[in-house]
Amino acid sequence: AVLILLGPPGAGKGTQARRLEEKFGLVQLSTGDMLRAAVAAGTDAGKAAKTVMDAGELVSDEIVINILRDRLKEEDVAKGAILDGFPRTTVQAEALDGLLAENGQSVNAAIAMEVDDAAMVERISGRYTCAGCGEGYHDSFKQPAAEGVCDNCGSTEFKRRADDKAETVGARLEAYHAQTAPLIAYYDEKGQLSRVDAMGDIDAITAKMTEMVESAI
Ligand code: AP5
Ligand code: ZN
Repeated sequence: AVLILLGPPGAGKGTQARRLEEKFGLVQLSTGDMLRAAVAAGTDAGKAAKTVMDAGELVSDEIVINILRDRLKEEDVAKGAILDGFPRTTVQAEALDGLLAENGQSVNAAIAMEVDDAAMVERISGRYTCAGCGEGYHDSFKQPAAEGVCDNCGSTEFKRRADDKAETVGARLEAYHAQTAPLIAYYDEKGQLSRVDAMGDIDAITAKMTEMVESAI
């Protein structure tokens, strides 16, 4: 199965993708994580992406589609994927349909996570992740059970993203509304869209999304 999580920065795409990945045995594919890995590795794509990401704008379709095309060729994706942060433009959505068709796959469902913009600034500026396993945390909403120790892997190192500064979050929200929000209509017209209110409790949202996925796959 192939699922798409649509939603603005901070909507909880990464948080929910990690939970659904475990529940359904699918692979989380985050183009944001892939781009950050390319930046860290210093590849040509990473160098081109870094300035754009730091400004809160979208990286070119060409770079992102190439990264995703390579990832989709890897064996583990055959069991199905949860796309988190891709597609983000109509060009990417059309490219995705073509790439999946090459593997005999297609989109089962696109879930639009609906949230208030104002709350996103708070969610994003308080966010940090475990450096060991990538588990997500938040200064006010989700702290490790033991202070400074990851619940999941026991690591004591955490990191914050360079683009999570309050001034960059505004640009990221703007890019979302201008370039990505039109995909809600794109998937609605194809009959593949479900909407979820993503403002509540994280576990309650996982429960609602689990039901949606069960009926879509
Ligand atoms: P990307 O890494 O995709 O970031 P994003 O879309 O901005 O999304 P986030 O990771 O910020 O948020 P999320 O929805 O995953 O929320 P999370 O679960 O972490 O992209 C980064 C950049 O890369 C882009 O700006 C662009 O430049 C580039 N890029 C990536 N893909 C691209 C593409 N396809 N095309 C072009 N450019 C691309 O949750 C946020 C916080 O809130 C966490 O702390 C979490 O614990 C907390 N939280 C989650 N749910 C709740 C809840 N229900 N209640 C309270 N707190 C919650
Ligand atoms: Zn960890």
